[in-house]
Amino acid sequence: MGMFTDTTHLHIFTWVVGIILFVIAAVMAKGSKGRKIAHMILRLFYILIIITGAFLFFKWSSSDAMLYGIKFLMGIVTIGLMEMTLIRQNKNKPATVMVVLFIISLLVTMFLGFKLPVGMQFF
Ligand code: HEM
Repeated sequence: MGMFTDTTHLHIFTWVVGIILFVIAAVMAKGSKGRKIAHMILRLFYILIIITGAFLFFKWSSSDAMLYGIKFLMGIVTIGLMEMTLIRQNKNKPATVMVVLFIISLLVTMFLGFKLPVGMQFF
């Protein structure tokens, strides 16, 4: 399963596509067909983000269980906040707080990912 664990490319691909789909769905008109389709494909990408992240996690986490554990958790939280933002918008409820929490959670997740030793290391 080297394609999942030797590099982070596949994982990066899945969350970049996921974030783009999230932004597209979030700015599209509520109830529109395009928004529903973008949201549907986004949900498929949640799964792909988790699968590619989990492969990296199970291969590498023994080197720093604590930080990898937090990375795993924050990745899931970031996905949860995308979903909650879209659902709140669909229900015509205020979503600004969710968007702000999403941005913070995304930055923390990216910081942890880039801090951890596999793949790119910016911090
Ligand atoms: C939207 C959600 C997510 C974002 C934005 C994200 C972002 C990142 C980033 C920026 C990296 C660093 C890539 C590199 O250094 O080349 C990374 C690596 C990683 N991610 Fe995620 N991730 C997300 C979700 C997840 C989830 C759900 C999991 C666990 C199931 C996960 C587990 C990992 C692991 C284990 C690594 C490797 C860390 C390392 O050793 O360098 N990620 N992620």
